[in-house]
Amino acid sequence: MSWSSAELKRLVPTIGGVTLNSPFILAPMAGLTNWPFRRLALSYGAGLTVSEMASAVALAHNGAKTLDLLKTDPLIEKPFCVQLFGKCPDSMARAAQVAAAHGAGIIDLNYGCPARKVVSSGHGAALLTDFDLATAIAAKVVAAVKVPVTVKTRIAFSQGQPTVLDLGLRLEAVGVAAIVLHGRYGKQGFLGQADWEWVKRLADQVKIPVIGSGDVTTPEKAVELLRTSQAAAVMIGRAARGRPWLFRQCLEVLAGLEPSVPTLNERLAAALNHANWLIELKGPKAAFPLRTVLTWYVREMPKAAAFREAINHESRADKQLEILGQFFAAA
Ligand SMILES: Cc1cc2nc3c(=O)[nH]c(=O)nc-3n(C[C@H](O)[C@H](O)[C@H](O)COP(=O)(O)O)c2cc1C
Repeated sequence: MSWSSAELKRLVPTIGGVTLNSPFILAPMAGLTNWPFRRLALSYGAGLTVSEMASAVALAHNGAKTLDLLKTDPLIEKPFCVQLFGKCPDSMARAAQVAAAHGAGIIDLNYGCPARKVVSSGHGAALLTDFDLATAIAAKVVAAVKVPVTVKTRIAFSQGQPTVLDLGLRLEAVGVAAIVLHGRYGKQGFLGQADWEWVKRLADQVKIPVIGSGDVTTPEKAVELLRTSQAAAVMIGRAARGRPWLFRQCLEVLAGLEPSVPTLNERLAAALNHANWLIELKGPKAAFPLRTVLTWYVREMPKAAAFREAINHESRADKQLEILGQFFAAA
């Protein structure tokens, strides 16, 4: 199916003056979208990647562990989008300044995390219960930094409550440059299906770009969300774990091509890059996250369970990579 010229213009998303190379974005995932994962997604053509969410209070005080979340390579990750969570306008503004001083080219505010610990302390999706505070935070952050500020959120906290259609207008009015909408309610967590109709409703409501998120599992679905919702871009989270080539496949489907299937060698090369960059970042501690990460790359292959068992018993990253090599050699 061909695209009209107005649609084609929409496919070069611009967020507050920052133009992206592709409308397919790696969604932020706490504990997962560290620099190695983001670097891999960018190498496959992702238009933007977002840091794991960083505590504004910790960042405002230059907390060392939180500053670790800002590790990137500014020559490769352009722009570097840092996501903050917090509930205090002043600390969010201060944290945004710290992030900008560390190279952030976009600041994203987390108004959507449904985790019990996060919500019960008034952060993340809890901000959907207080639009005055949510708007005040965004206004303060926009005033504090020169870079574009975006907000990632959900439909509403729960059904029947004021929705992102109202919040979106308020955020737009205080200078927010784009809104990412995960089409679920805060209370829903990850249950049920993401409702893409809300992405369209929000895109019809506000003039700033809207980015759709939720249950994009294939390149065809990514293009379908882009086309049907009027979204400026689409975020992919869980489906990109161990499938960084999804970003290339999305561009192929967008261009009307068949998505290319990665060869065994390509899968192994991607897994090795991911692993080696994690080892570079975390040193010997990489062995723990590698148990999860390496399993992503073999889950569609025969004997994946035996592979998982083997690397779970291995506490050294170099040994885990040996097992990975043997597994692919035998495949
Ligand atoms: C493990 C995990 C961690 C996540 N962490 C964050 C986060 O830190 N910030 C955020 O805005 N969303 C977070 N999300 C939500 C994703 O960004 C995304 O909106 C959601 O998973 C729906 O997209 P998907 O169906 O493509 O995964 C997380 C999701 C998962 C599965």
